Amino acid sequence: MSTTQNLKERLASARTTLAAAGQSHVLAYANELTEPQLADLLSQIESVDWPEVTRLIQSHVKNTPKFKLPQKLDPAPWYPNDPGLKLREKYQKALALGRQLIRRGKVAAFTVAGGQGTRLGWAGPKGTYAATPIRGMSLFGCMAEYIRKTQTKYNTIIPWYIMTSPVNDAATRAFFKDNQYFGLAGENVMFFPQAMMPAISMVGADTGKVLMDGKGQIALSPNGHGGSLKALYTSGAIADMKKRGIEQISYTQVDNPIVRVVDPLFIGLHALDGCEMSSKMLPKAYPKEKLGNFCIVDGKMTVIEYSDLPDALAEERTADGELRFRAGSIALHAIRVDFVESLNLKGDFGLEFHRAEKKVPYLDAQGKRVIPTANNAVKLETFVFDALPLTKKSIIYETDRVDEFAPIKNADATGPEPSVDSPITAKRGQTERAGRWLEQMGVPVARDAQGRVDAVIEISHLTATEPQDLYGVKLPLEVKRGDRVLL
Ligand code: UTP
Repeated sequence: MSTTQNLKERLASARTTLAAAGQSHVLAYANELTEPQLADLLSQIESVDWPEVTRLIQSHVKNTPKFKLPQKLDPAPWYPNDPGLKLREKYQKALALGRQLIRRGKVAAFTVAGGQGTRLGWAGPKGTYAATPIRGMSLFGCMAEYIRKTQTKYNTIIPWYIMTSPVNDAATRAFFKDNQYFGLAGENVMFFPQAMMPAISMVGADTGKVLMDGKGQIALSPNGHGGSLKALYTSGAIADMKKRGIEQISYTQVDNPIVRVVDPLFIGLHALDGCEMSSKMLPKAYPKEKLGNFCIVDGKMTVIEYSDLPDALAEERTADGELRFRAGSIALHAIRVDFVESLNLKGDFGLEFHRAEKKVPYLDAQGKRVIPTANNAVKLETFVFDALPLTKKSIIYETDRVDEFAPIKNADATGPEPSVDSPITAKRGQTERAGRWLEQMGVPVARDAQGRVDAVIEISHLTATEPQDLYGVKLPLEVKRGDRVLL
C-alpha cells in the first residue's frame, strides 16, 4: 500500500474514532497539513485511549471527583531513622541483605524523568539542569556518579532505567551521549518514554474538548509518574530486568541531587519484610507541609494528599507533642520486579486519575494560538503511590532531610528570599550534607548564627555517597567562613 493510501485509511479511521468521542475538531486542519505533519497527528490520535478519555471527561472534567475521607484512618507506622537498641540487630540484618542484593546484581536504579518541569522553567529535560554548587553538575550527572561509585564499591553492575516522555526522550538520550554516559557503560542505561494524555478544556461551552497546541498537534502531556508502572512493562524494561536477574527496583525522582539512588538499608528492610512496594518518609516540618501523608486505610498502606487531609487531623498531636500524621511522602520507593509484572498481567490494571487544573496554550476557534493567563484546562495524571494499597505488604523507612532531601521544584526567586525547593535551596542542602559529613570526619566547619554551613562545599558522589567513603580521602584541615571546597 502506498504511504498516501495508508494515510487515507488511517485518516478515515481516526475520523470515526474522534466522532464517536465527540472530538472531531482535532482533525479540523487536517487538509492544511503536509503528509509528514498529518502522519504525525495521526500517530498522536492513535496513541490516545479515546474511550478512556471520554469516560474521564465525564468523571474528572465535567465533574470534579470528590475526595471521600475514609472513616477509619490511622497514621502508618514506620522504621525510624535511628534504630535505637530495639531495632539495631534488625537493621544490621537488613543492611547485610541490602548489600548482598546489590553485590549480587539484583537491584536496578529507576528514575522517573518524564515530567515537564514547568515550575522550574528550564528549557531542557529537568535532569540536564546544572544542580551542584561548584561544578554545576547536572541532576542526571549526580545520579550517574552515585551509581558509578556504588558499582565500584560493590563490584557489581546497577542497570539504570530512565523513564522519559515523548517530548524529552530524544534530548535526554542526546544529553547522555554527549556526556559519554558520565562514565557508565551505555548498555546499562536504558531509556523509555511514558504515555501521554490530552489536556481538556474546562472553559465555558468548550468544557470537555481536547485542546490543540497547533494545527497538527494535540496538547498532550505526560500521564503522571503513576504511568511508570505500566510503561516499565510495556517498554520491555521489566523483561530486560528479568533477563538480567534483577529482583528489586530502586525508584527515585529526577529532581533531588542528594538522593540515595540505591540505598542498601532501605532495600534490605523492604526485602527482609517481604514487601512488594515500600517507601521512604520524612517527618513533616509543619502540619500542612506539602507532602502526601502515609496512612493506613482498611489495613492498606495509602497516601493521602496534603490537600485532602483535614486540618484537624493534620494538626493532631500525640501525647509527646509530635504530629500524629507525621510521615510525609518524598516519592522514594523500593519496588519488587514481580509486583510490577503482576499488576500488568491483571488486564484491568490502571491507577486512578487525578484532576489538575493548569494553564495550557491552545488554538482558539479561529486557529490562533492563545497563551492563557488563568487555568483553562484539566490535565489528567496518575500517581505512583496509588499502587501502595495494591500491595499485600509495604513498609516505610524514615530518612533524614539533610542526608537525602534537597529537591529542585521551583525557579529561583528574584527577591532576596529564596523560593522553597529551588536551585538555591538545593545547593544549600548539598553544602549542609557535605558539611555534616566533614564534621563527622572531624573537620571543623564554619557555621553562621543560624547554624548553617557558612561556606560552599560540594562532594562528588564519585568521592563519597556516604561519610565512610571519606576515609582515605585528602580532606581540608578545616572549612573556614566563605571557603569553596570541592572534593
Ligand atoms: P513533579 O510532580 O515534580 O512534576 O514530578 P514535574 O513535571 O517534574 O514538574 P512541574 O510540576 O511541571 O513543575 C515528580 C517526578 O515525577 C516525574 C518528574 O520527572 C519528576 O521526577 N514525572 C512526573 C514523570 O516522570 N512523569 C510525569 O508524568 C510526571
